[in-house]
Amino acid sequence: MQKFISLTQIDEAADAIRKKISIQPQVGMILGSGLNGLAEAVQNPIYIPYHELPHFPVSTVQGHIGRFVIGELEGKAVVVMQGRIHYYEGYTMGEVTLPVRVMQRLGVHSLFVTNAAGGVNENFAPGDVMLITDQLNLMGMSGLNPLMGPNLDEIGPRFPDMSQVYDRVYCDWARQAAAENNLTLREGVYAGLSGPSFESPADLRFLRLAGADAVGMSTVPEAIVARHGGMRVLGISGVSNKANLDGSTITTHDEVIEAGRVITPKVETILRTVLRRM
Ligand code: HPA
Repeated sequence: MQKFISLTQIDEAADAIRKKISIQPQVGMILGSGLNGLAEAVQNPIYIPYHELPHFPVSTVQGHIGRFVIGELEGKAVVVMQGRIHYYEGYTMGEVTLPVRVMQRLGVHSLFVTNAAGGVNENFAPGDVMLITDQLNLMGMSGLNPLMGPNLDEIGPRFPDMSQVYDRVYCDWARQAAAENNLTLREGVYAGLSGPSFESPADLRFLRLAGADAVGMSTVPEAIVARHGGMRVLGISGVSNKANLDGSTITTHDEVIEAGRVITPKVETILRTVLRRM
């Protein structure tokens, strides 16, 4: 496994996709654990499994299919990642974020990221949906920033700003979408950890003190790479379980998938409504 992905490799993967499609996708979507449903709704879909693309890693997690679905949704040309690649699977940060790089080279200007997350905010309950307003890059703080290595100057600057990772206008549109559809939309800070072990009660008390409202094992590297390339980002977390601060309950992957069933229709409604507005 090599350390960093080059622009040539990114372009080889992007070219392989371009050969299979006749539309120019505008909006990218990454669907998290248990949130795959929206990919099935894409019209005139072209399916491209990750394993058919050069340099692509393959997702190994239950509940993640591992393919691009390219077509139309709400009249917009979209490229949907049905299943994402996680750092805990053993891939490099470059591999984890390669799909976002490829989207950038395909001309995608906006990225919608969704995930299943643990609710750290004490007011959150399983089944809640949270608009991500900011993020805690805990992986990056410990040296795992996806932008480490040679900078891809053609795509973005060496030291990109992260003062507004999640687009303010899209956040407003998501709030309005929730209000129009009588959905409760929580808001907060998403903390990204590497996983795959869930957090200990001490980890969770630390995260709460640090200002996290939700915690998960994805999204942060993707959002950083998206912003590096100038994409506008919208992030939504589905709260699949409550953080276990006192050690009295256990967290399981089945619970995450199950909560996805309640969360999916809400997230779908919000994303579709925002898409229509774009
Ligand atoms: N912690 C980390 N990641 C998660 C969780 C959690 O509790 N739930 C879903 N993804």
